[in-house]
Amino acid sequence: MRYRIFTIAVAVAVAAGIAMDAAAQDMPYPRVADMLYRVMSADREVYTRMVVQRLTVDEEILTASEHFEDEAALPLPAQMFRFGAETVMDNTEDFSYALLSLNPINRNNGPATELEQEALEFVADNPDENFYGEEELGGERYFAAVYPDRAIVEACVNCHNSHRDSPRTDLKVGDVMGGVVIRIPID
Ligand code: HEC
Repeated sequence: MRYRIFTIAVAVAVAAGIAMDAAAQDMPYPRVADMLYRVMSADREVYTRMVVQRLTVDEEILTASEHFEDEAALPLPAQMFRFGAETVMDNTEDFSYALLSLNPINRNNGPATELEQEALEFVADNPDENFYGEEELGGERYFAAVYPDRAIVEACVNCHNSHRDSPRTDLKVGDVMGGVVIRIPID
């Protein structure tokens, strides 16, 4: 499992390196964020489809749980995503990212800034569009991009609808469940 986490982190880090070189050559921030998002979203989808959905729903031989270490279960897709984000944060200040929602199971994943609130509402109302903006945090200016995060397979909605801390129990495959926020400090 550590190997998988490492692989995802390396893939994101390599993409980040390419993207930051591009930024240095005046590539627009939205384009840089879009490229970073492509890599993280591909890794998230592959883990969900090929590991979580296959082993928990299709084959029914394992469970996925936030207490994966104690329960010998798979880490949740959201946890895999956060491990990648934390690894990136340990290695660079060039950008950061997170998975948030207006109706989070974990309250720490709710919107914390005005831009996050506005962006999550925007992607919930416009599932095929991304949100781009700028905000000032702690005296620093940031470019921020927010991408809709969808329920791509049954495993997403089964688990959220039945989770005891979930504010929503009516999710369907295809619904926007939250958003991925990518932040890049503006030089
Ligand atoms: C087996 C259960 C399970 C599966 C499968 C699952 N989730 Fe989650 N998800 C959770 C839990 C629990 C959290 C809160 C984790 C944390 O941060 O502590 C979470 C967090 C999230 C968040 C952040 C907001 C929040 O609710 O805290 C989003 C968005 C999200 N999941 C979307 C999805 C999508 C989309 C899929 C499928 C691609 C998916 N989840 C699959 C259980 C699950």
